[in-house]
Amino acid sequence: MKGTYALAVVSERSPEMLVVAKNASPLVLGLGERANFVASDVPAILAHTRDVIFLEEGDFAVITKKGIELTDRAGKKLDRKVRRIDWTPTMAEKNGHKHFMHKEIHEQARALTDTIRGRASVEEGDVYLDGCHLDAKTVAGLNKIHVVACGTSWHASLTGKLMIETLARIPVEVDLASEFRYREPLVDARTLCIAVSQSGETADTLGSFREAKSRGARGLAICNVVGSAIAREADDVLYTHAGPEIGVASTKAFTTQLAAFFLLAVRLGRLRGTLDVPTARKHLEHLRELPSLVEKTLKHEEEIKQAAYKFSAARDLLFLGRGPQYPVALEGALKLKEISYIHAEGYAAGEMKHGPIALIDENMPVMVLAPRDSASEAGVNYEKILGNIQEVKARGGRVIAIHSDDDKMVPKIVECAIAIPQTNALLLPIISVIPTQLFSYHVADHRGTDVDQPRNLAKSVTVE
Ligand code: M6R
Repeated sequence: MKGTYALAVVSERSPEMLVVAKNASPLVLGLGERANFVASDVPAILAHTRDVIFLEEGDFAVITKKGIELTDRAGKKLDRKVRRIDWTPTMAEKNGHKHFMHKEIHEQARALTDTIRGRASVEEGDVYLDGCHLDAKTVAGLNKIHVVACGTSWHASLTGKLMIETLARIPVEVDLASEFRYREPLVDARTLCIAVSQSGETADTLGSFREAKSRGARGLAICNVVGSAIAREADDVLYTHAGPEIGVASTKAFTTQLAAFFLLAVRLGRLRGTLDVPTARKHLEHLRELPSLVEKTLKHEEEIKQAAYKFSAARDLLFLGRGPQYPVALEGALKLKEISYIHAEGYAAGEMKHGPIALIDENMPVMVLAPRDSASEAGVNYEKILGNIQEVKARGGRVIAIHSDDDKMVPKIVECAIAIPQTNALLLPIISVIPTQLFSYHVADHRGTDVDQPRNLAKSVTVE
C-alpha cells in the first residue's frame, strides 16, 4: 500500500484478532491486563491502560487479547519501546464540567504550573530544559529560527517570536506549516526549526518539520503529547505537560505553549548573553506568578458569561489587538468561529484604517484587547488602542474591552468591560486570552452548538 493510512482490520473468520498497519497517520497500541487496544490517540484508551506503544511508519501488528506481535514492512520482528503515560484516566473525564473545553479552560493554572515546574530557577536566573540539548556553542552557530505550526499553535508561535526576538535577539520567522512545505524555504544547518503542536501529529506541521530537517536544520519540538510523531523526530523536545486536551478547541495547549516559548526564550537569552541574571530573574519571577494570575482571571467568569449572552446573536465579530495582543486577537477570533459558527476576524488594531474600519456599524461588535503591562505605566500599545476604541465608537460600533484591573479609563468608554490582572507585556497574552476563551465558550453554549466537537473539525488533523 502507498500513501497515508492507519488501519485496523478484523476478519469474520478470526474475530478475536486485529491486524493493524500504519504509515504517516498516528496509531497507538495499548497493553492491558487481559485485553489490548488500538487507537489513534492516547486519551481514547486511558481508561483501560497507560502502557502504550507508538507505531512507526510501515509497522504492522497482530493483536489478540493475549499479546501483540510487531513486524516491519518486510515481516521482520520488531521490538518497540513500551511507554508509560503519566496521564491518569480522570484527566480524560469531565469532572463535573458540562464540556471538556470548560474543564480545560479551568485547568490552565495547574497546567502552567506543570509546564514551569523544575525548569525555571528564579534564584539562578536561568532555565533548565529537560529534553533540550542546546548549548552555547550550538546557539552561537544559529543565524535564525524558523517556527512551523497550524491553527492555535501558529498563534502561539507568533507570540513566541516576540519572546525570542526580545529576550534572545535572534531573528525568528513563523510560517503556517501548510505554506512552508511548498515554498522552497530558506533553511540550512544554521537554522533552528521549531515545530509547535499540541498533538504532535498534525500532518502539515510534521511534513514541514521533516522538510526543514532534510535541509540541515536542527529540529526542536514544542509538543504536548509525549512520544508523538513530531516529538519522536525532533533533536530537542520541550513538552508542555498540559495533560490531555480533548475539546477540539485548543485552550490550555495555547497557554502552556506560550509558557514553553518563554522558558526557551529566557534560556536562549542566557546562552547568547543577551539576558543578564538580574533581568532573567525578574522575568522568571513573573512567570512563576502566572498560575495565580490565571486563577484571578477565571474568577471573572460570570461577567464574561453575561457579555457572551449579550452578544451571542451577533453574525460577525471583530477582535483587535496590538503588539503581543495581536496574536491573542487572532486566537480569540479562531476560538469564536470554530465553536459558535459566528464569523469572526482578528486584526492588528493599526490595520483598521487600511480596510476593516469600513465594516464597523452597530451590527459589528468589536472585542478590543486593551490591557496595560506592568513594565510601562501606559505604553505605546495602550495609548494607541485607546484611539482605536474611539474610532470604533465614532462609527457606531459596540465595544467589549479586556482591560487591566486598575484601569479606570477603558471601562468608562466601552459597553462591556472585562478586567484582568497585570504582568509583563510578553506574558500578558497568557492572561488576556482567557476571557476570549470563556467568551467563545459561553456564546457557543448559549447557541447550543456542539462545543467539544464542532462540525467539520477533528482534534488532530492528520491529513494534508
Ligand atoms: O495539534 P496541533 O497543535 O498541531 O493542532 C493544530 C490545529 O489543528 C489546532 O490548533 C486547531 O486550530 C484547533 N482546533 C484550534 O482550536
